[in-house]
Formats: sequence, structure tokens, C-alpha cells
Amino acid sequence: MSNRTSLRGRRPLATAAALVLLTTGGVAAQFTASTAGAAGAPLAATPPMGWNPWTYLRCSSTLNEKTVKATIDAMVTSGLKAAGYQYVNLDDCYAATQRGADGRLQPDTVRFPNGIASLAAYAHSKGLKFGVYSSAGTATCAGVGPGQKGFPGGQGHEAADADTWYSWGVDYLKYDACNSLPPATNDPGNTARYQVMADALKAAGQRYGRQIVYSICDPGRNVETWAPAIGNLWRTTGDVGLKYGSMVANFHENSAYSAYAQPGHWNDPDMLLTGNYPTGDSSRPGLTPEEERSQFSLWAEMASPLILSTDLPGRLNELNAGVERGKNTFNVLLNKDVIAVDQDPLGKQGTVVSKTDLLPPLAPGKTRDRLDQRFATILTKPLANGSRAVTLTNEGDQPRAMSTNTTEIGLRGANNYTVKDLWTKKVTVYTGSYFTFTVPAHGTVMITVTPTN
Ligand code: GAL
Repeated sequence: MSNRTSLRGRRPLATAAALVLLTTGGVAAQFTASTAGAAGAPLAATPPMGWNPWTYLRCSSTLNEKTVKATIDAMVTSGLKAAGYQYVNLDDCYAATQRGADGRLQPDTVRFPNGIASLAAYAHSKGLKFGVYSSAGTATCAGVGPGQKGFPGGQGHEAADADTWYSWGVDYLKYDACNSLPPATNDPGNTARYQVMADALKAAGQRYGRQIVYSICDPGRNVETWAPAIGNLWRTTGDVGLKYGSMVANFHENSAYSAYAQPGHWNDPDMLLTGNYPTGDSSRPGLTPEEERSQFSLWAEMASPLILSTDLPGRLNELNAGVERGKNTFNVLLNKDVIAVDQDPLGKQGTVVSKTDLLPPLAPGKTRDRLDQRFATILTKPLANGSRAVTLTNEGDQPRAMSTNTTEIGLRGANNYTVKDLWTKKVTVYTGSYFTFTVPAHGTVMITVTPTN
């Protein structure tokens, strides 16, 4: 489907580059992109939260105005908006296959008979923000294949497209990399091409008096080394598949880049899978409720964008009818304690403090499939109030006792520590510095640890 899949095997290079930047203290110097939004307010000061249809709808005919409007309504009535979910974003397949005679992007008028501007205005009228998608190449990613063609891409049309999006009232752009030329030999990634759109967004934004959030989607080209200087968030991984192995693989990949996250600039391990089980397709079974809580915890611990991708009106009907899937969807998405960790103003991404391989050693010369690895992993994330948020994740198929201590998570010196379990809400005061938890199979225990005295 995508013509850049082959580039996604280049993680070791990315890791090497990350280490160089860290040891030279180059990270701060990289962050030169504009972070100002309307009236100078910081743009994406905390990780963006919202909805995107791609994981569950792709380009199906259900991707249309009626669905998006119903989703906007459900964002408000379900309490998601009040909890901080702000963006309603389109992904691929909203545009007409051809540009207009004036060279401008046009909406697919079968899907969106009243155009995109009216949809953005509808989102704004409900207090939400609105996003679109395009690609830095000549065509977008969907529909690329024999006899098919993607939708118009931005290459060579950057200024006009940026102007179009601002004129529609767009607040957020996800910019993919399909059908673009290979990077220049002196360009470690796709810097030049993404910079052209960054400049176009900035120039048009100055005319419109506000700035669009710029989400870069170019995983596998050392993106973390160049995207922080250009955009507000950047995909560090391939697409998250609707299955547990894919979710944890994206978690582990993304966890390597914690040094690059800071207010206005976020690593993006792709969307939340919450609310999409069972699919009836064994290759995309969705996550169990335990696994959904695990993803939500890990994404928050990594200060990741919280972009959900499910049929919200459907889940809301299920919630109102007492159906388990709907109840679980909102139980996960509305966990305010976990959201608060994600949105913590300090803007630090949690770092790995311990990682244990749970599978037997491999025979010499064998390697494990990316989707078939199992670890027990502990992360710690400093919070603005001096506490730490900690995740203990068990990818094994049996419950597991997992322990950590105050030194490991970066705290010490207090006599007592108040520990809050962010899912059970149980609060315990510990005297002493060791904590042990029983972590369910495929589960994550998420706690905050606060030095008490
Ligand atoms: C992929 C991208 C997905 C989705 C899709 C649309 O390249 O990673 O998140 O945007 O393109 O075609």
C-alpha cells in the first residue's frame, strides 16, 4: 500500500543518531520550529488528543460527512471533549482524485457534499478543532496499487494547499511521505520536503493569524533527528495494527526516543486501538480490555498523542445500552488520572528503567519477529509536581510479580511515599522504598509515586 515500507527497517541507524545527539547535548539546539499558535499561545504544548478515522474506517464509504458530524456530537456528549480530546481529524480519502482547474485541492463531494470548510465550522461550533491529511509526494498513500491512484499530494503545491487548508479553517495537518522522491544524498531524512510545507504553513499562518499543528508521518527515515526542528509531532513507527503484538512493538520502538519529546514536540507511536474488538478478522482481532488499558497507560507514560480511532457514536450507544465494549471504551478513554500523566505540563516522555525478555533464548542465528517479542518493562516519567508516573508492563501470558524501587524510578530521600494506582484508584502510603505489584497477563499497572515526607 505504501511505497516507503522498505525504509522502515532502518531503526538501528536511528538509534545511533539518537545517541549522538544525546551525548553532544544537541537536542535542545534542534528545536527551532515555530511553536506559537494563535496570539502566541504555544502550539501543541501538550500532546494532541483527538480522533482520526483511519484505523477502523480506512477509505470505506462510511468515511463521510454524516459519520464525522456524528463523531463530533459523540465527542461532546460522551465527555471526551471535556476530558481534553480536542481534534477531529480526517485522514486519507477525503479529497477528490483531481485538483480543480485552479490547481486547488477539492473535497470528494460524494462523501462531503457540503465541503470541508462547513465540516470544520461544525467542529468549531462545538468547541472542537479540525484536522486534515496529505502527503509530501505527488499522491497520498491510499489507493496506490495496480490500476489505482492516490489522492493529490502536496509536492509542488505546498503554498496553495496550505492556503486552502487555512481557508477551510483547518487546525491540524498530518503530512505523510508516500510517492515522494527519495531523500537527497546529503539529507539524512526527508528534511527538505517537509521543510517546504512547514514554511508554507508558517507563511499562510501569518496571513491568517494562527498556526496549524504540523504532524509529520515519515517513520523509518531517522525522523526523530530532523522532525523536531520542523514539526510538532512525528510518527516514530509504522502503522499500529489492530493486534497486541503490533501495539507493544510500537511501544518498544517509540520508547527509544524519549530524549526528543518536549512541549510542542512529540514522538508519535500511532493511534489508540481502543474500542475496536472483535473485528471478525483474525489478523486484526483488536485488543482485549486489559490490553486496551495497557496501551492507554503506555501511550500516556510516553507523552504520546492520544488520537483514538473507533466508531464513537456506536460505542456511545453500546455504553448507554450497558454493552461491555462501550463501557470499556469510555472507561479507558476517560481515565482522567492517566490523561493527566499524558498531558503533564513538564512534557517529559517516560524512560525505560528495566526491561526483561520473557521468552526463552533463541537458537543461534535466529531472530524474533517484530510482532512476536515479549518483555516485562518498567518506565518512569517525571511530573511537574515532583511525583513520578510509573508503568509496569507484563507482556507475558501469565500474571507476573513486578517490583521497582524509589532509586530506580528517580526518587529518593523521603521517609514515606504515597502510591496511587491510576486504574483501581487505590492509594497506599509506603514506608520504605520497594514496591511490588501483581501485573496481569498483557497488562500494565500504572501508578504515581509521590514523596510524602
Ligand atoms: C499511511 C499512514 C497511515 C494512514 C495512511 C493513509 O502511510 O501511516 O496512518 O495515514 O497512510 O493512506
